[in-house]
Amino acid sequence: MRILGIETSCDETAAAVVEDGKRLLSNVVLSSIDLHKAYGGVVPEIAARSHIEAIMPVIEQALEQAKCTWDDIDGIAVTYGAGLGGSLLIGVLTARTLAIIKQKPLYAINHVEGHIYANFLTETTLPHYELPAAQPQFPMLGLIVSGGHSQLVLWKNHFNYKLLGQTHDDAIGEAFDKVAKITGLPYPGGPSIEQAARKGDPFVYSFPKAQMEGRYDFSFSGVKTAVLRAAQAAVGEDFTFPSSKLPDRLSERQKADLCASFQRVAMETVVDKTVLAYEEFQPKSVVIGGGVASSTALREELSRRLPYPITYTDRKLCTDNGAMVATLGCYKAIHKQPAADPYTLEITPNLSM
Ligand code: KG4
Ligand code: ZN
Repeated sequence: MRILGIETSCDETAAAVVEDGKRLLSNVVLSSIDLHKAYGGVVPEIAARSHIEAIMPVIEQALEQAKCTWDDIDGIAVTYGAGLGGSLLIGVLTARTLAIIKQKPLYAINHVEGHIYANFLTETTLPHYELPAAQPQFPMLGLIVSGGHSQLVLWKNHFNYKLLGQTHDDAIGEAFDKVAKITGLPYPGGPSIEQAARKGDPFVYSFPKAQMEGRYDFSFSGVKTAVLRAAQAAVGEDFTFPSSKLPDRLSERQKADLCASFQRVAMETVVDKTVLAYEEFQPKSVVIGGGVASSTALREELSRRLPYPITYTDRKLCTDNGAMVATLGCYKAIHKQPAADPYTLEITPNLSM
């Protein structure tokens, strides 16, 4: 069973071929991130235009890297939500057209579920990938931490899961991106904060952890505002001081300490709830997915706190990619889940779990 996965929900144009839900044959990701950097975040119109230019070359390269022709492909999986409308449209319309022309079944993939399925890849023909030795077992607890999502989900089996909790406001990655803006670090914020935090003291600032009504719910807007207030206070100003002027006034030391303290509290927040859910539900495996899952700080904290030998997938499979989409597509095909109609499949930008 070989599935071609297509992913265009945000600023990455990505395609990959996965075999039998576990073997990665190709993984091609083209990011338009450099075009967005000047704006400090993803500009939807620029992302959509980049997808149009990149999508066919990226798909052709994914087939070539997998040493596959269209005859070797058993189906096409595509992200249909959640994501930016214009971006999703390019991927979905391309996949629909290819499914009709090449006469392949089409599988509609939820981006957030896809992030978790990257953990099912255990073999590859590609160099420079570090994959876990074994697949996750059910019941499986999944923590999804990305630029658009922060969720804890319990899977009883494939296609049978329960959403335990999610963020009520900002996603964790979004909070990293906003704190990067406050401290004058480049977009995307996660990697630049992680780097700056290495030189800082994580205990200089004690930012609050939001107390939520739902046991497994998150909130990150409070801690983000707390970083802003701390930065204003650090330069001797009050809350009226514009955040755009802060990077010039903050010293390197202050920036590093703000980043380290914020990163510590943000990671502790998601790890606290993951450990709590682990204790309550006693899953056979715990997996993490989404861009923030590539963070060494998060991995170290989770490994230290979980009474379970958690394994992590390659960092290249945490940020948006086609492999996660193809992997989930394989399970849909293997478990005979209904295929989508290539003549009518619509995008769902605010798709939930
Ligand atoms: O999954 P992803 O590529 O896109 C979405 O589906 O949102 O995640 C991107 C997010 C960005 O917010 C980025 O700042 C964050 O992942 N990120 C990190 C790290 N690497 C990426 N956050 C914290 N630490 C990192 N090392
Ligand atoms: Zn994502």
